[in-house]
Order: sequence, then C-alpha cells, then structure tokens
Amino acid sequence: MRISWGLLSFPATVSAIENGINGWLRYAPLPSDQRPSNLRLPGAIMTLSTNKTSPVYTAGQELQSGIKSILNQALPLYHEPDEYIGSTILVSTTGEFYGRDKGNVKATATLADDGYLLRMRAGNVVILGQTERGALYGAFDYLSRIAQGRFSDADLVIERGYAGPSIFFNNNAIPKNLDRVSQYARLLASIGINGIVVNNVGISLNFASPHTLGGLSTFDPLDQSVISWWTDKTNCLYKRIPDIVGYLVKANSEGQPGPLTYNRTLADGANLFAKAVQPHGGIVMFRAFVYDNHINPADLKADRANHAVEFFKGLDGQFLDNIVVQIKYGPIDFQVREPASPLFANKPQTNIAIELQITQEYLGQQSHLVYVAPLWKTILDFDRADDPTQDPQALLEDWTRLTFGSDPLVLGVITEISMASWPAYENYTGNLGQWTRADHDGIGMDRTVSMGTGFAGQYPAEVAGQFENIEATPDDLLLWFHHMNYTHILKSGKSVIQHFYDAHYAGADTAQRLSVAWESLRKKIDTDRFNDVLFRLRYLADGAGRVGKHEYRIEAETMTLKNYKLTGVNPVETASNLTAVVLISNNTSGEVTTKLDFDSGKYDVAINYLDLIGGKARYKAFLNGKLLLEWAGDLEDKLGHAFSTKLDGHSATRVTVRDVQIQKGDVLKITGVADGNELAPLDYLAILPQGVVD
Ligand SMILES: *[C@@H]1O[C@H](CO)[C@@H](O)[C@H](O)[C@H]1NC(C)=O
Ligand SMILES: *[C@@H]1O[C@H](CO)[C@@H](O)[C@H](O)[C@H]1NC(C)=O
Ligand SMILES: *[C@@H]1O[C@H](CO)[C@@H](O)[C@H](O)[C@H]1NC(C)=O
Ligand SMILES: *[C@@H]1O[C@H](CO)[C@@H](O)[C@H](O)[C@H]1NC(C)=O
Ligand SMILES: *[C@@H]1O[C@H](CO)[C@@H](O)[C@H](O)[C@H]1NC(C)=O
Ligand SMILES: *[C@@H]1O[C@H](CO)[C@@H](O)[C@H](O)[C@H]1NC(C)=O
Ligand SMILES: *[C@@H]1O[C@H](CO)[C@@H](O)[C@H](O)[C@H]1NC(C)=O
Repeated sequence: MRISWGLLSFPATVSAIENGINGWLRYAPLPSDQRPSNLRLPGAIMTLSTNKTSPVYTAGQELQSGIKSILNQALPLYHEPDEYIGSTILVSTTGEFYGRDKGNVKATATLADDGYLLRMRAGNVVILGQTERGALYGAFDYLSRIAQGRFSDADLVIERGYAGPSIFFNNNAIPKNLDRVSQYARLLASIGINGIVVNNVGISLNFASPHTLGGLSTFDPLDQSVISWWTDKTNCLYKRIPDIVGYLVKANSEGQPGPLTYNRTLADGANLFAKAVQPHGGIVMFRAFVYDNHINPADLKADRANHAVEFFKGLDGQFLDNIVVQIKYGPIDFQVREPASPLFANKPQTNIAIELQITQEYLGQQSHLVYVAPLWKTILDFDRADDPTQDPQALLEDWTRLTFGSDPLVLGVITEISMASWPAYENYTGNLGQWTRADHDGIGMDRTVSMGTGFAGQYPAEVAGQFENIEATPDDLLLWFHHMNYTHILKSGKSVIQHFYDAHYAGADTAQRLSVAWESLRKKIDTDRFNDVLFRLRYLADGAGRVGKHEYRIEAETMTLKNYKLTGVNPVETASNLTAVVLISNNTSGEVTTKLDFDSGKYDVAINYLDLIGGKARYKAFLNGKLLLEWAGDLEDKLGHAFSTKLDGHSATRVTVRDVQIQKGDVLKITGVADGNELAPLDYLAILPQGVVD
C-alpha cells in the first residue's frame, strides 16, 4: 500500500536519465509558460519519401520523436499525400515536391546545395530541401525552434554549401557499439554538416603507402605505377563505400612522408589523389599543416609560423578543382591567441577551408571550460570582408536553451561563465600573444621583416605594415610579433610584467568564480549533469597565481608530518612555496596535521594535492577527528585524459568543502594511503573566508 502511494505521488512525467549524450538534441519538454496559449500544431507529419535510408524519411522520424518529447503530442507519420487530409508538417526535396505539382509554395530563392526552405504557419509547416540532406537540416531547424518556444511564423531560405570535416574515433579503433556513431550523425546533421573524416595522427592516409603497403619501389606522385596503385585502391574503396566523400591528406607534416620527398610540389601530391577520386565525384581535403619539425632553436630567424606560406608559395592556381586546401586558423597550431594564418590571403585561386578545433587540445583539453566561438570570431573578423553572420553569444544562447532549457537564470549563468571562459583561460595561461624566447630582460618573438623572422611580411602590405610596427600591433598579439622588455608599457598603460601578474590573478580568480556561479544552478539542472560540470569547474579552480603571499594558505611542509616527507616538484613554481609532501614509501599510509589559527566562523576548506597517472591514492580529511571529506587521486578516470605521471603543473589540483564551521584552535588532519606510484602527495590547505578565492 505504502509503495503504491509512493508511486502514485511521483510526478506524471519522469524525465529520462540525463548524461549529456544527447547534446543539444535532448528535446526536453517545453514548460507550459513557454507555449503560446493558442498553440496549434499541424495534425500529422508527411514526408514525401518511402525510402527508409533517405534523409527525408529520417527527418520524419526525428520530427515525430522530437515533437512527442518537446510537446507531448504524438503526431502520425505519413509518406503519401493520399493517406491523410488535413494540416501537416510536410518534408520533401524541392524536386519531389514540385514534381508532384504542389506549386502553392514557391521557393523565394534558388536554394544552394543542401539548402532548405522552412515555412512556418500556425497550422501548416513546409520544409523543402534542395537535396534530401537539406530537408533533414530543415527539420532540425524547425525542432530547434519549437524546443526553444519559438513558434512565430517564419519564411526562411537557408543557404548551405558547407562540408566541414569532423573527427570521431574511439581508442584508435572503430567502436563495437555504433549507437554513438548514429547519435553523432544526428548531432552533425542537426547543424548542417554532411561529411566527417575519421582521422588522427595515427589513423590517416599515408603518402608512402604504394611503397610500404603496395611493395612498389617508389611513392613519387608523378610515377605511373604509383598513379595506377592509387587509382586501383580508390576504385576498390568506392565499390565498397559508394558515398565516401573523398580523401583527407596530410603530407610532409610532422615527419610524415609526402611529395617533397621526391622534390615534387604539394600540388603534385594533392592532384594525384584528386584525379583518382574525380571520376567518383570525390573531393580531396589537403591539409596545409605542413612544416619542418627539425627546426634549430638556436637559429633566431627560423620560425615554424613561416612554413605553410613558404611551402605553398607559387602553387596558387595549380590545385585541381576538387581539392580544398584546409588551413588552420592560425599559423602555429590552435593556440589560445594567434593572428589569422597569412595563407588565407595567399590563395585567391584555390578552394580553401578554415580548420577550427572544438576539442580544446591546447586549451586545457576537455577538463577546462573554454567556449571557443569568440576565439574563432577574432579570426573570421580578421578580414572585415568576411562578415561572419553568427554572433558567438547568440549561438551559445541557442545551444544553452536546447541543452539545459530556457530558465532565465540557467541561460544567464551559462552565458556568463561561457563568455568569460576563453579570456580567463588566456589570462591564466598565455598572455599577449605567445610566450616564447623569454630571457631575463624580455619576452616574445620578433617576427618582423626588419629584425626578426620575417613572418609579418607574409600578410598583404597593409596588415604587414601594422604588425611590423610595435605601436600599431594590438596588445593581445604584441608578443607574437615582437620581443619586448618586461618593463615596456602596453597600450593598457601597464608594463608587460604587470600585465602578466594581473592577468594571471584575474584569470585564476575568474576560473574559481565559475564553479560558484554554476552552483547557483543546483536544482535547476538534473543532478548528473550538474555534478559532472561542477566537478570539472572545481578541478579547474586550481588555475595559477602562485606568486606572492597567500594569507589563507597553510603549506603542507609546515604541518606535523607522520610518514610524510618533503619533496620538490618540477618546475618548482607549480607547488605553492615550491614544495609538496609525499609519503615516505609506496607501500604505506601517513598523515599531516595542523592547528587552525583562524577566527571562529564559516570557511571553505580547499585542499591542494597532486593527482598522477599510475596510482589512485586515497585521502581522508578530518576536523577534530570528524570526517570532512574522503576522496581518491583518480582524476585520470574522471577527467578521461592522461595528464601527468610527475609532480608538476598538470597534476596539481584541489578538492573543496564549502561552508565548514571552524573554531580557533581546531585540528585539521589529512590521511593519505599510497597506491601504485602515487604517494598521496599534498601541497597546501587554504582556509577561505566567505567570498574569498585563492
Ligand atoms: C534510398 O535513398 C538513398 C539515400 O538517398 C539512396 O542512396 C537510395 O538509392 C534510395 N533507394 C531507392 C530504392 O530509391
Ligand atoms: C632533390 O633536390 C635536391 C637539391 O635540388 C637534391 O640534392 C636531391 O638529390 C633531390 N632528391 C631527389 C629524391 O631527387
Ligand atoms: C630592457 O630592460 C633592461 C633592464 O631594465 C635594460 O637594461 C635594457 O636596456 C632594456 N632594453 C631595451 C631594448 O629597452
Ligand atoms: C583578464 O585579465 C585582464 C587584465 O588583468 C582583466 O582586465 C580581465 O578582467 C581578465 N578577464 C578575465 C575573464 O579573467
Ligand atoms: C616554505 O617551506 C619551507 C620549507 O621548505 C618552510 O620552512 C617555510 O616556512 C615555508 N613557507 C611558508 C610561507 O609556509
Ligand atoms: C607492502 O606491505 C605489505 C603489507 O604491509 C607487506 O606484506 C609487503 O611485504 C610490503 N611490500 C614491500 C615491497 O615493502
Ligand atoms: C614502489 O617503490 C619502489 C621503490 O621506489 C619501486 O621499485 C616500485 O616499482 C614501486 N611500486 C609501484 C607499484 O609503483
């Protein structure tokens, strides 16, 4: 009886488990206050395709499940106009639609490849794709609108001609369970991406294959036997996978073989593949990430940033039409701040694509929060003529509403922490461009034509002139282009060194406030996703800012140690007061104890420790003998990426217990139990009054 009562009192809709896997395609129920009172939905979904493998058919299924979930309305799905009379959400290709002479909706513009027309009226919705894929993109657009409560009438013509590569692989192998692959395909299709390349440094097309795999004596791209080898292999591939998009080629990069091995040009290399895929309608994405990785650091004129333009010089116009040269946004490699690659301006007669990275390789991996769209915008805005239409904040707000719902507090907090994340990351990692060639007087790389590596001269004259000149170079790229004295006064009025100090503190401060802001969303977001993000933001809180005095810190090396000993870290500044403590052996446990000499009150207790790969030490913290917190050094599992096997800046991290009541003279004890090579390292404690971050 009691159990029945319990079940009966359960809310009518029990939301599905939220683990983030659905991304922005959650199709969360739309709260009733966001539904127009006079909401009228069409009575059915009609997709003019009975072919189950057609994206038009898939669009129908996506609409059906999406609308069921968002609006709790089960719309029937039909494929033939005769089957249903009444208002519909109609999905078709333009060809099929006009072929059936349903000419009452006229396309207001010619649709580009994969473009679509979306016409929303209260009782009727029409989604017409220029291709089958275009129809699917249109269906996702419609679902995105209703999921955000945007029901107003609309007539949209979306031009799409965009095919962006993306990366998906799992432990360097094709996963056995392919559910996530179709989920990924849905996410991509919902934003209009129609092709992916599974690629990384380990799995990629190798230029030397005719030799290493095929046993030929050469892989010279102009050799007839090599051309035949690639043509045969390509024909075989297309026989097995007819809709393969083409090849992505990375040659002569990071020690990889390529056409330069035979004194051929990169265009010779790219054209070899372009000719092989051309009869099948295929394309070649040719990566411009080409550089010599044996650069001599003592040679002050040597500059990796110069290589792409040097290697591609003189080749403009020589690439076949089905080649797209793929250029990283900046001249180096996805750094936190780079100028736009000058190669963009050097290839007017070549198809080019910009390469962006969303996986944050050099931006704290997936462990730090860095919303990268504002960074991309700095690149897209470089050439004013580009006029990118998407505003990073509007994009973020769409994503947030779809991923976490439309609650104004949720929207506000996520927008605020996301928009602050890239500037904060830049602040607590690398400032003013790039940190290279630092010595006791100054920092930065002289890339001018007059004195430096000459990189600045690779831009068109007007831009080159700006970067050549210290006064005209913006602060945020100053050290990318110039070697400056630490005492040089920036446009901001601060010296270079003062900017470093201030920015590091400001960035670390922002990073620590992110977790506090996120905590205000407790109960507004499902527990799993709330806790997962909170965990990452608290981990993030150990940003930087080790210089100077920390009145709330107690260094582990000053505590009473039992079975613990002092140890150095490398580099030294990654431990507070340059020292950490570790257990005396890897087969033991020990403890550190200290008396808290703070006024009685409520504090946040932060414990900074180091978490290595190769062990999962266990820790317990006690206040006057009462257990405060228990944790393990297992970030390698929780954050899902390998960071460090050593005591260094990558392994330094912290746990925090909020709102702890402390009396003057209380005793805080931390016990550690070694595991593997992890000797339960500890760095310091911070006893933080309300509102103070450190
Ligand atoms: C079904 O659609 C797919 C995808 O567009 C297409 O490749 C296939 O040829 C179609 N099958 C039939 C029988 O029309
Ligand atoms: C490439 O050219 C260089 C210099 O022009 C020459 O020394 C080298 O032997 C050539 N290599 C091949 C494989 O032809
Ligand atoms: C840089 O600063 C050092 C130390 O303050 C000074 O001796 C040197 O002349 C300065 N160099 C330049 C180029 O201003
Ligand atoms: C970054 O640092 C600058 C300089 O101290 C500061 O003005 C700015 O507010 C900081 N921004 C963030 C998001 O930390
Ligand atoms: C820094 O560590 C040394 C021992 O290495 C210790 O004597 C000193 O008190 C510590 N300083 C602070 C501020 O804790
Ligand atoms: C580790 O500790 C266990 C249990 O105390 C003991 O049996 C073992 O001999 C120790 N091993 C080493 C290498 O000290
Ligand atoms: C424990 O430490 C010893 C001596 O430092 C070392 O040889 C051994 O490999 C360590 N054991 C583990 C499991 O890391």
